[in-house]
Amino acid sequence: MAGDYPFVITVASEKGGVGKTTIATNLAVYLKALDEDLPVTIASFDNHFSVDSMFAIGSQRGKSVADLFNGVPAAQLASLGEYGVQFLASDSALAPFGDDPAWLTGALGRSGLSGILILDTRPILDYFTRSALLAADLVLVPVKDRPSLVNTASLARTLKEAGQGLDKMWLLPSLIDGRLRLRENLGVREFLVFAAEERGYQVLDQFIAKSPKVESLVTNLSNRVYPVLTHARTTLVHRQLHELSRFVLDRFRATKLPLNQCQAGFADVPARRVRRLLTACPVCGEAMNGTDGQFFQDIRSRRRGFMHRDCLQGLLEQTGIAEELPDQGVLVMSTATTGLDGDDSTMLLHLYDVDGDESSVESVPDFFDTPFAECWRQVSDRLPEELYREFLLVGLEGGPPGRFLSADGSSRWGQLRRRVLRSVLARVG
Ligand SMILES: Nc1ncnc2c1ncn2[C@@H]1O[C@H](COP(=O)(O)OP(=O)(O)O)[C@@H](O)[C@H]1O
Ligand SMILES: [Mg+2]
Repeated sequence: MAGDYPFVITVASEKGGVGKTTIATNLAVYLKALDEDLPVTIASFDNHFSVDSMFAIGSQRGKSVADLFNGVPAAQLASLGEYGVQFLASDSALAPFGDDPAWLTGALGRSGLSGILILDTRPILDYFTRSALLAADLVLVPVKDRPSLVNTASLARTLKEAGQGLDKMWLLPSLIDGRLRLRENLGVREFLVFAAEERGYQVLDQFIAKSPKVESLVTNLSNRVYPVLTHARTTLVHRQLHELSRFVLDRFRATKLPLNQCQAGFADVPARRVRRLLTACPVCGEAMNGTDGQFFQDIRSRRRGFMHRDCLQGLLEQTGIAEELPDQGVLVMSTATTGLDGDDSTMLLHLYDVDGDESSVESVPDFFDTPFAECWRQVSDRLPEELYREFLLVGLEGGPPGRFLSADGSSRWGQLRRRVLRSVLARVG
C-alpha cells in the first residue's frame, strides 16, 4: 500500500544566492524539531551537495535523486539522515522523465512518502524547477532585492500556464539587512512587501535576516553544513526559521482538514482525495463546492472536480446524446483514437448505465474545434494536441456530487470506474 501523498514544499527562485538552500535545509530541521512524529524528507534538484552536507550520516551516500526521474518511488530512495530528516542524495546529472513537467506530480502521488517533502531547486526555470513548482502544495520564493522580486514573474507564469492559481505561492523576504535604508523610513523588507503586493503576490509576515553567524555555518572549513537550530540559536534567524516552520505546519495541517472547499457534509473525506480536486467548473470557470452539478475524473492527471449539469448539457449540444442524457450512469469522453499528427482528431462519447454496461457510443469529429477541447484543457492542463489515450469520466447522478469523495462514494465510484474503463479500452483497443 502506498502511503499518503506528501505535502510538497518547493523553494524556488530564478536568482541564485537568495537563500533557497539555507531555507530549505533549515526548514526540514525545524519542522522535525517541532513535530518529531512528522516524516520530513528533503531533496535537491540542484547540482550542489548542500543537502548531503547537512543530512548525510558519516560518509553514507544515500540513493540518488536522479532515480526519482527514472520512475523509482521516492520512499525507496529516502535515507534517514541527521536530525531525523530523510533525504535523497543530490546528483550532478539529472535527466528528465519525458518532457512533461506535470509528470513529477503524479510520481510523488505514487511515491509512498507521507508527511512533508521539501524540494530545493536550481536558480533556473528548467524542467526540474517547473516540475517542482507544479507538484508543490506550497511554494516559497525567497526574495532579497528588486531583481529577485521582478524574477518572480516567471515562476508565477509557470503556475498560471499550468492552470494553477497563485494562492500556493508565498514570497519570503530573505537575507534582509535590517540596518539598510533605501530611503528614510524605508527598509529593504518594507520595500519588498510593498512591491510584491503591488504585483499581486502574497508575502509572508516572516522574513529571514542577514546574519554573519548564519553565513559562517556554510563557509566553515569542514564539508559539513550545520543547521541554525543547533549552531546559531542565539541569532534572530533562529526565531525567524521557527516562525516560518510554524506557518508551514499550519498550512500542512489545514490541508489535512476535511475538505475545506466543500463544506456541505463531506467531513469524512481524507486529504488525498481533496488534493487533486478542482474547485471550478471546467466549462464556465465558476467555483463549485460539491453541493450541485456532476462529478468528473480525468484518468491520467487523476484530477477530480464538479461541473454544472447545464454546462455539461451545453458541451453535448451538437451531439446525439444531448436530448437523452440519462440521470444515472457514466459518460466517458475518450481520445484513444486521436492521431498525434492531428489528422484524426476524433473523440468518442460513451454512455454507460449504473451497472457499468455500455448503452451507446458516438464519435465526435474534429474534436479540436469543439468546446470539449477547452473543457479538457481546463481539467487536465494539457493542450488538446497532447491528448492521446485520455479518458474523462463524468458520474451522472442526482444529489450532491461531493458524495463521490466520501469513503462509500469513492469506493462505489472506483468499482464502476474500473468496469467502465475496461469496457472502453476493449472497444478502443
Ligand atoms: N540568513 C542569512 N544570513 C547570511 N548569509 C546567508 C543567509 N542565508 C544564506 N546565506 C548565505 O548566502 C549564500 C547563498 O545562500 P543559499 O542558501 O545557498 O542561496 P541559494 O540556494 O538561493 O543560492 C550562502 O553563502 C549562504 O551561506
Ligand atoms: Mg541553492
